Amino acid sequence: MDIGTVLHAMRDPAGIPSHPVIFQVLMIVTWIFHIAFVHMTLGTAAFAIYAFYKRAPGTHWEQLSMAMTKAAKVGVSLLIVLGVAPLLFTQVIYDPQWYTASVLSARWLIAFIFTLIIGYCSWFVFYYSNHEGAKKRLGVFALVGLGLFLLDGLIMHVLAYQSLLPDQWMNWYAPGGVVDSRGATLHAIQWPRYLFIISLSLPALGLYLMAYADYFRGRPDRAPEYLALARSLGHRLAMRGLVISFVLLLAWQFVHPASTRLSWHPVGWALGASLLALAWWVQRRGLQVHGYLPMLAGLGVLGVLAVWRELIRIRYMLPFGYDITDYTVHADWPSMVLFFSTFIGVGGLVGGFFLTTIYRAGRVQGLYTAERGVARLGTAAVAVLGVWITVFFAYGITIWMRNAFTL
Ligand code: HEM
Repeated sequence: MDIGTVLHAMRDPAGIPSHPVIFQVLMIVTWIFHIAFVHMTLGTAAFAIYAFYKRAPGTHWEQLSMAMTKAAKVGVSLLIVLGVAPLLFTQVIYDPQWYTASVLSARWLIAFIFTLIIGYCSWFVFYYSNHEGAKKRLGVFALVGLGLFLLDGLIMHVLAYQSLLPDQWMNWYAPGGVVDSRGATLHAIQWPRYLFIISLSLPALGLYLMAYADYFRGRPDRAPEYLALARSLGHRLAMRGLVISFVLLLAWQFVHPASTRLSWHPVGWALGASLLALAWWVQRRGLQVHGYLPMLAGLGVLGVLAVWRELIRIRYMLPFGYDITDYTVHADWPSMVLFFSTFIGVGGLVGGFFLTTIYRAGRVQGLYTAERGVARLGTAAVAVLGVWITVFFAYGITIWMRNAFTL
């Protein structure tokens, strides 16, 4: 049977509740935040380990190692939470690809969860033990944690990449005509793509350190020399990291199969240009501008990367006649309204409240007392949660009663 037909047959027969492009845009946008925290986590984790081994008691390196260990600890939880959204959207419009890729490497996908748990626990052990004068041998917990996070990134990459290669699925499922349903192999790795995406952790760490230095500028317990060190290290790491990533991007650009004609696609080169432009700007103005600006610009670069990944997927799917815009739509407006109002109302207000509180609290040494505006935001967040819970149950009960009485 033709593989394009198979792909269409594997789509969810129930269709999707709204226009596919809405899910595509949401998938791209939410992935930017997932990968931003992946980079921030891997960058700060690697740097925490480096500073841990380099430090002498009472030095800024010791302080930096502890601070970056904490940053990575928070980063992991956020990258996991923020990974869920693009995962759901991928499964809505690219369900045949994602599920097949997952089943073909099922043992690895299951191992992904356990290795993530072990890696995170290991990082926590390091976090609890990484205090003044900590023993160097404890660094092994950090190394295990970071190693497992990198493995998890590799598994994610394999699933994304295997999704692009439907014409190879049968060879992997039944090599030589003999079915192998163990799912024990990572069948396809595109090293330049994986290494390029992971390498962005280096400039991300640099940009993070620059923002970090400005964030803590007002705190009396952070010495100016300590913040100056963070800023200048960040400046150098960002510039060098961007150039290293650019070289790896070049490697990725030239491994796309000729038939896809992706190697000379303008968006791939726009990504390269954005890396170089950011490196140039950071080099020229990085020490004068506010530390948050380069980080915002970095998010812009990730935006281009997110679009580029999706264009690659569209091109790879072309020969199979797979086009998300012909996905069957069974419009379900009430659930879409509920979804978007949850996204904006609960996500915006409750998420906004948490973010504002954490941001403000971190800038104060000791106990933080919420300002009037923040306190009001808190009240609004609780109110919107109340409304949300009421609507959620009212909607569910109405549907349930309607079905029960029309049977
Ligand atoms: C330490 C843990 C993780 C790391 C290092 C990591 C890293 C990555 C990387 C490097 C990619 C890009 C792969 C590529 O395009 O080749 C990716 C994609 C992705 N990740 Fe993660 N990830 C992690 C955990 C998670 C978790 C827990 C989730 C979900 C809850 C998740 C959801 C996704 C999704 C949905 C994609 C996009 C897949 C696609 O577009 O086909 N990730 N991740």
